[in-house]
Amino acid sequence: MSSMLATRLREGTKQSHSLAENAGFIQCFLKGAVEKTSYRQLLANFYFVYTALEDELDALQTHPVLSQLYFPELKRQSSLIQDLTYYWGPHWQDAISPSAATQGYVDRIQEVAIADPILLVAHSYTRYLGDLSGGQLLKKIARRGMNLPPDQGTAFYDFIDIPTPKAFKATYRQALDHLPLETSRIDQVIDEANLAFKLNMGLFQELEGNLIRAIGQMIFNHLTRPRRDRQSPWSPDLGESTKLQPQD
Ligand code: HEM
Repeated sequence: MSSMLATRLREGTKQSHSLAENAGFIQCFLKGAVEKTSYRQLLANFYFVYTALEDELDALQTHPVLSQLYFPELKRQSSLIQDLTYYWGPHWQDAISPSAATQGYVDRIQEVAIADPILLVAHSYTRYLGDLSGGQLLKKIARRGMNLPPDQGTAFYDFIDIPTPKAFKATYRQALDHLPLETSRIDQVIDEANLAFKLNMGLFQELEGNLIRAIGQMIFNHLTRPRRDRQSPWSPDLGESTKLQPQD
């Protein structure tokens, strides 16, 4: 019997999804205004979040409900380590620490793992289905916006064990629909997914300040450049060499 959990989650987080998509940081990202300082901090934050989530999902892999949604091919920790090594260098582990919002997100994951592990379904859904959906677009934007060398800096978006994200998403949704969950728990899972979106928004909002400063610097550099070198700061084609880059 299907609980329709997949549809309920999609419908029940629609508003949160549009709020997240409209966050300043995400809007800038989508327009190609991506710079390494903010981006590598986002990856550092994700490292702490995914490590917490994946440690808990591993520890609970025989749980009667969570075992049905245990897909190791989704794990992001090792791809994040690859990207962190690229952006922060071989000593990345000494260089990064969780921001306040990141710590709050990690705390919540660890708290529900102890108090009510079923709610981890919501955390898994919010991050992984998101990564599998918008991920390919975000990868393209990150590569162009930061002028990355081929095959470096975007391992996070590559699910090497998931050849067709679309088919996998169907499998994941089917697993959601068949979780042995009492109907009374479904609303709680949806509430937790909305909380997970909020926690993600918190990460984006924290980075907004950095990004605004970086954009200010780029515009300043542009305006103070000799007139003959001056080109439009916002190139309509993300791939053009006129893209703004912060001067490190
Ligand atoms: C950069 C901005 C974003 C874009 C362009 C984007 C795009 C999309 C698209 C096109 C889908 C639909 C895929 C489909 O129907 O198969 C989707 C689904 C989804 N996105 Fe996003 N997204 C963005 C941001 C986010 C964020 C910040 C989160 C949460 C952290 C998120 C979480 C999700 C989830 C959970 C789904 C699955 C919805 C469902 O079918 O149940 N997205 N996204």
